[in-house]
Amino acid sequence: MNPEPNSTPQPAPLAKAPDGPSDALVVFGATGDLAYKKIFPALYAMCRSGALKVPVIGVATRPWSSEQLRDHARESILKDNPKADTQVIDRLLGLVQYVSGNYKESGTFDKLKQTLGGARTPAHYLAIPPTLFPTVIEGLGKSGLAANARVIVEKPFGRDLASAKELNRVALEVFPNDAIFRIDHFLGKEAIMNILYFRFANSIFEPLWNRHHIESVQVTLAEKFGVEDRGSFYESAGCLRDVVQNHLMQIVALLAMEPPASRGFESVHRHKAEVFEAMEPLQAKDMVRGQYEGYRSEPGVAPDSDVETFCAIRLHIDSWRWSGVPWYLRSGKHLPDSACEVLVRFRAPPQNLFDDDAKTEEANYLRLRLQPHSAIALAARVKRAGKDFTGEQREFALQEEEPGEQTAYERLLTDALHGDDSLFAREDAIEAAWAVVEPVLNDPPPSIPYAKDSWGPKEADGLIAGDGGWHNPAA
Ligand code: BG6
Repeated sequence: MNPEPNSTPQPAPLAKAPDGPSDALVVFGATGDLAYKKIFPALYAMCRSGALKVPVIGVATRPWSSEQLRDHARESILKDNPKADTQVIDRLLGLVQYVSGNYKESGTFDKLKQTLGGARTPAHYLAIPPTLFPTVIEGLGKSGLAANARVIVEKPFGRDLASAKELNRVALEVFPNDAIFRIDHFLGKEAIMNILYFRFANSIFEPLWNRHHIESVQVTLAEKFGVEDRGSFYESAGCLRDVVQNHLMQIVALLAMEPPASRGFESVHRHKAEVFEAMEPLQAKDMVRGQYEGYRSEPGVAPDSDVETFCAIRLHIDSWRWSGVPWYLRSGKHLPDSACEVLVRFRAPPQNLFDDDAKTEEANYLRLRLQPHSAIALAARVKRAGKDFTGEQREFALQEEEPGEQTAYERLLTDALHGDDSLFAREDAIEAAWAVVEPVLNDPPPSIPYAKDSWGPKEADGLIAGDGGWHNPAA
């Protein structure tokens, strides 16, 4: 069993978390890639629904004016939503101001303080490279901007167990724990919230949800695109740190956790952390790293880089419920499609009774599609008409729908502004997840090249060969 990570000692907080909603949203990294792709569209949606009425102050190093940031925000909203309501856009842009400056200089925080004017309970959202989290948190503390404020920290929270603990220590020196919101935006996705609902709002699956009936579980997050203009970020992260240690392992925690004993998220958080604590530390033999051909020529990437753009791992959860069941996780860039799916394979029937016996190996599975749309399907074999007792595997669709109205960032930023941390990652779970991947962070197997538009290196197929192979989700 994985040794329990020592939880970070928590010093007495210097400030108090606000009681009510935040009265301003400060976006550090407002001119960056994340803000452009996801945050401004989410703020537009929040403005449209009435969830956002407070000032939004962008902070970044580029020497822009507020007007330039507003033009940039308008472009970002219209890019994927050309029919966006121009009145709503204008309403949002009326709330937006910009502060330009270096995060290391106190003058930047002084300017921010001035721009915040009468705001008493701001929320500071750090959509910046992880190396800058401590600088900005300390700057907020020194300038007095942490008092009665919240801080929303993007992922990855740390780059290994030691740095996650250190970041937590820095954050807790400035903010009380209930004012710190650690984002894993996958937790705000409808289809991922539905894992919790589907498991515990039904009684028929729970008796089967264990090592006696489940053969293996696999989760694939496939992306058709490459690292695009995030080469230098990717060089410091790689696929394991970027999506596996957080997004994919959070999905595993929701699939593997024990039933919460009561309503409310406290119990969910505890049971999720227990899943990570029960995971065996990952060994190099349970991991395949891959790098797409051409990655080394991407802007910001070292010509001899070994950073992985593909990662497949086999996890073991050493618990009464899951002992002996392998969990396969796989993600990669430049794969054939963009989709995320879970496949829960049930054990084969104990006896071969029919003429198509070999196929009974492919009898039952539950498929949870998480994106681009939500679907849940249960596969079972049914007899074909005729004299022979042979059949075929069919899927029964339990759900098939477009994602809900709210995007993950719309949901999570709205929750954070109201102080609701139900869908945010907790520090004990984050540290336990880092402890699982620590051995392969320190001593990773080499990256194996793979062709763009393939499903990664063939060695990844070898990892799961004994368990029926990968299920490749279609777009
Ligand atoms: C981010 C990663 O956290 O998640 C990206 O940094 C990845 O590399 C993205 O592409 C996937 O999230 P989504 O919601 O766009 O599927």
